[in-house]
Amino acid sequence: MGRTRSAAKDIGAILADIEAEVRAENDWGNVASYIPELADIRPNQFAMSVCTAAGETVSTGDAMTRFSIQSVSKVFTLALALGRHGDLLWRRVGKEPSGNPFNSIIQLEVENGTPRNPFVNAGAIVTTDAILEGRKPRDTLAEILRFIRSAAEDDDIWINDRVARSEERTGDRNYAIAHFLRSCGNLRGECALVLGTYFHHCAIEMTCVQLARAGRFLCSAFGDQRLIPTERVRSINALMMTCGHYDGSGEFAYRVGFPGKSGVGGGILAVVPNVASIAVWSPGLNDFGNSKQGTRALERLSERTGWSVF
Ligand code: DON
Repeated sequence: MGRTRSAAKDIGAILADIEAEVRAENDWGNVASYIPELADIRPNQFAMSVCTAAGETVSTGDAMTRFSIQSVSKVFTLALALGRHGDLLWRRVGKEPSGNPFNSIIQLEVENGTPRNPFVNAGAIVTTDAILEGRKPRDTLAEILRFIRSAAEDDDIWINDRVARSEERTGDRNYAIAHFLRSCGNLRGECALVLGTYFHHCAIEMTCVQLARAGRFLCSAFGDQRLIPTERVRSINALMMTCGHYDGSGEFAYRVGFPGKSGVGGGILAVVPNVASIAVWSPGLNDFGNSKQGTRALERLSERTGWSVF
């Protein structure tokens, strides 16, 4: 107990230092503007929470501010799809990095409608279809929220309908991807229903504290077996490491050294296997569409803790 307390105290001091450095650097990147509801968010915001495998949470910055988790939701939908279909999911989606931006279409035609991985938009749309399976979007979204709330042990987690509708109105590229997938026989539901579900799970809002806690199911080989078996934890972490930051995944692995999944809302969920889950949020993005200061902060945390898996 004493050791846990002092470890938390050390992490608290490290997080405070990192926040001070991030704010001093004052180099925030640009917020995502293609989803109008996200375009007006102030970029110079920062929060970071670390939840240890023992369940203790330490935070710095705006850690109680809700943000749009966007593509971080793809980690939870992947967990649900693997729970439902097991390895059969991999007949419809690959496990390889794409080397392309998250919303790229070009590979889909060349590779006959099989998305490279479940984190690029095309792969996440197929994963959402695999959870939907002919059910009503409302029921599927309720299942996704149940999973996240149960992982976070917090029921105060919701979908921001305005963000979902804002993306729906400007979602032509995702519509193009969905229609192409369907023309290849890799989308069973109606495009509008699958995308409606996808836009809404991307529009889930969480605080850094909630996201770090929710990520704990991926952090420990001794984690909550009710949510997901250990072998799936390994698969998801491997994919987060190789594909979680799109064409910036190699750079993230090189600089940070543990699995992470980013979202265009500026959030990143990262996992240090058996040690901690980490949520960081700073809405300004780098050229790959990943949080600029979120990535820097994780790099600093890795340097100071030695948490790189390499
Ligand atoms: O489909 C989209 O474009 C968004 N709902 C999610 C994209 C996203 O978060 C990419 N991550 N960095």
